[in-house]
Amino acid sequence: MLDNLGNLERTHSCGDLRPSDIGREVVLMGWVAKRRDFGELTFIDLRDRAGITQVVFNAEDAPEAHARAKELRGEYVIAVTGTVVARAENTRNTKLATGDVEVHARQLLMLNDARTPPFQLDASPDALASEDLRLKYRYLDLRRPQLQANLHLRHRVLNEIRRYMTAQGFSEIETPILIKSTPEGARDYIVPSRIFPGKFFALPQSPQLFKQLCMIGGLDKYFQIAHCFRDEDLRADRQPEFTQLDVEMSFATLDQVYALIEGLFASVFKLIDVDLPTPFPRFTFAEVMSRFGSDKPDLRIENIELRDLAQAVEGTEFPPFASALSSGGQVKGIVVPGGANLSRKVLDDLQEFAKRYGAGALAWIKLGDEISSSLLKALGGDVVGRIASVAGAQKGDAVLIVSGKPKVVAASLGALRNEVAKRENLIPANVYAPLWVTDFPMFEFHEEDGRYYSMHHPFTSPVDEDLQLLQRAVEGGETNLLGQIRTKAYDPVINGVEMASGSIRIHRRDVQRLVFKALGMTTEEARERFGFFLDALEYGTPPHGGIAPGIDRLMMVLAGTDNMRDVIAFPKTASAADLMIDAPGEVDPKQLEELHLRVIED
Ligand code: AMO
Repeated sequence: MLDNLGNLERTHSCGDLRPSDIGREVVLMGWVAKRRDFGELTFIDLRDRAGITQVVFNAEDAPEAHARAKELRGEYVIAVTGTVVARAENTRNTKLATGDVEVHARQLLMLNDARTPPFQLDASPDALASEDLRLKYRYLDLRRPQLQANLHLRHRVLNEIRRYMTAQGFSEIETPILIKSTPEGARDYIVPSRIFPGKFFALPQSPQLFKQLCMIGGLDKYFQIAHCFRDEDLRADRQPEFTQLDVEMSFATLDQVYALIEGLFASVFKLIDVDLPTPFPRFTFAEVMSRFGSDKPDLRIENIELRDLAQAVEGTEFPPFASALSSGGQVKGIVVPGGANLSRKVLDDLQEFAKRYGAGALAWIKLGDEISSSLLKALGGDVVGRIASVAGAQKGDAVLIVSGKPKVVAASLGALRNEVAKRENLIPANVYAPLWVTDFPMFEFHEEDGRYYSMHHPFTSPVDEDLQLLQRAVEGGETNLLGQIRTKAYDPVINGVEMASGSIRIHRRDVQRLVFKALGMTTEEARERFGFFLDALEYGTPPHGGIAPGIDRLMMVLAGTDNMRDVIAFPKTASAADLMIDAPGEVDPKQLEELHLRVIED
């Protein structure tokens, strides 16, 4: 028999009670986390969002409640009325915030029963049930304190963002969800129109064009906690549906955007008691690629940088190095501090790791009591010694060397830098190392289809000095210049995570047209896709710029997790499905008919 709640109201949460409450009459409500029976005494760990309180049912003092307590099982929902009592010295629980006290129950209401959960909610992190099972029963997984903490922190972060942006003079403006394709470079999720047969809406990959239109509309300072949708290959740090803090401001300089975002991150990190060092150091894209092999370097790793070894191997005939250098490639290496004791097995693993990033092989030198190296036979001791010294290695260190195209050398050594730092415990705990990466190239060349793509998106402004390169490339046919154009694009990076992307935008229609042309879009194609936007650019567009921090990425860093699903209430799996609601799902044939759609079976 279940009881009614009636008018009974909670006086406290299950995380509130302290010794100062001793003697107080309280009403707690929550879920049964644990029940222990000792005949005359029954103990319940009662859990709600705020914590756990121990409740004691005593057969002598409250026989009715005690009898009822014996029926309780895990996850039953109850209300308890009782008195706060000090726990005996030897039964205090220092792991619980409420562990100095317990509630001696007088009355118990059984508000609901529960089936036995399909997995244990209080398992230790390494004994948790499979994530798929937990995602299927996400509402149960959400009861775990860790997920509770992450989601309540997420609320505080969103709240702080809104407070900060409002204080800086920004207004939150909602933009539509049913729109036309946006240019962020992933596939769109599309929605068929019932009213216009054969036509489709696209869900926004970001509100990019709308926020720029807000600037053209004179709104001046816009922000939005925006839902974005991208049908792309997923990784641990990507979801098909995610949240951005989308920002745009008129008449903005680079320095103004940097200051705004540094202040924002600093105030958000205060929520986890971290003083983020500001201003963030700034590095150009060219510099981070050359020094760290990545456009999102982890600056907590202090002593490992890529070194150019071309000079050390010059004149040698070793085919991989010679052919790399004679065809515009590179020979570079990183020093692993204390790496002289890396085993052959670890070096083999690292080689396999580097190959995943396109490296043909990984050469190594170990500076132990003697020098050992995979290059000794081919290059001899003198050259090997020279490489180690140009790399800046000391006795006790190792050098890892990759040769090949600059892109491959950067990607493989950049990834190795992170990997060896992790394996060798070279990343300090509780350190947050932010930076700005600036001056991204405007275009990148894709070998697969032999054409240039926007590195950020096609609304990104070139740096003033490089506008003439764009003009020469498009109007003068010097297409080889396209790869050299730098932009006013910037990414803040913290601990190796790209936290946001942004740029000062193109506000002149002549420049915007040049970019579309450089991307191989005909005037008709540009009009077809972005005609409304090109039209808008004709009506007095102010210089403007903006940025979009990814809220889910930010939350991962703040909550200290590698799994984006841990900071989202109802996330999708790596294959973009929702296991709880079983989506995507089939629809009624009638619905398809109304939408003028037919499914082609494979
Ligand atoms: P961008 O595409 O770089 O830029 O996205 C900005 C930030 O959004 C986050 N992010 C994601 N988070 C989770 N899952 C995803 N699939 C995902 N994709 C992106 C990242 C990223 O840094 N309109 C531009 C911004 C601008 O120019 O103002 C844009 O969307 O943290």
